[in-house]
Amino acid sequence: MTLSRHILESQRQAPRARGELSVLLLQLAFAGKIFSHALRRSALDGRLGPTGDRNVQGEATKQLDVFGNNTIVEAFARSELVAAIVSEELDEPREIACGERASYVLCVDPLDGSSNSDVNGVVATIFGVYRPPRENGAEASLARVRSGRDQVAAGYIMYGPSTIFVYTTGSGVHGFTLDHDIGEFLLTHPQMECPPHGPYYAANLANLQDWDAGAQEYVRHLAAGLDRTYSLRYSGALVADVHRSLLEGGIYLYPADRQHPSGKLRLAYECAPLAFVLEQAGGAASTGTSAVLDAPFESIHQRVPFAGGSRDEVAMLERFTRDRR
Ligand code: AHG
Ligand code: MN
Ligand code: MN
Repeated sequence: MTLSRHILESQRQAPRARGELSVLLLQLAFAGKIFSHALRRSALDGRLGPTGDRNVQGEATKQLDVFGNNTIVEAFARSELVAAIVSEELDEPREIACGERASYVLCVDPLDGSSNSDVNGVVATIFGVYRPPRENGAEASLARVRSGRDQVAAGYIMYGPSTIFVYTTGSGVHGFTLDHDIGEFLLTHPQMECPPHGPYYAANLANLQDWDAGAQEYVRHLAAGLDRTYSLRYSGALVADVHRSLLEGGIYLYPADRQHPSGKLRLAYECAPLAFVLEQAGGAASTGTSAVLDAPFESIHQRVPFAGGSRDEVAMLERFTRDRR
């Protein structure tokens, strides 16, 4: 089962669909193939290392951040498939307008896990496709999106030992592995289900003393192994850690800390898309107090505290957070 066939078959379940979302998803998969190819060759082609610039968020950008961003933008720029592209690597005024009649806004983190890129570690692309309400024919833009619940599709492309495309359009989560020989994504993970609990937690423990008290106590509780035995896994790429939770159970968290009082991860193109995937697979994603998908959108690069993975571990974090407020 190829990704194209899967997308077209699920389009048939929605009789009013016009096929635009299908083409959009296939175009993302195409960008993913190009990026996967470039990543495999990045050391050979001299694409590693920093550009010397910083993005709008003050983070030093890598050559691969820019390549990934350009690949996505080029895949949509003249397509009229999306009204706008919001990307981690584009500042607000440069939210790219593509097709004014289009109904969708595409939010992307082109290269998640930038710090892994120079050490041959796992990196990923995250995408959320939003359909904002359009009153009086107004142009679709992220400013009209109310929350992550306005997503009609979301997923990620993970570039590890193999390249995997995971997506949801609201009827389950499906994973496809790229067969490099034939250039197709093939269904390898149908109907992914996140176990209700699991043995792993992932967090940057170097920040632990700067987290709020609830998150600190929660992680100490997991480490103490009082209810269950846990192992720590932290990859430096949110997608890789969430993917592990999705397959094997557990939790990834990036709580607010002193340096990031609202959390580090961005709502529109990191947290909300992964939350949509997790909820569709029977898992959960929380800001610590409520579902990530219910967090109201305020700005393009807005950040929120994030915890995502198995239902039980996420619910337990919410209990610790509530008890300490
Ligand atoms: P990005 O590479 O897109 O900036 O995102 C990195 C994110 C996330 O993927 C990862 O888990 C986390 O930031 C790592 O941050 P720390 O280095 O602070 O642990
Ligand atoms: Mn990221
Ligand atoms: Mn990124």
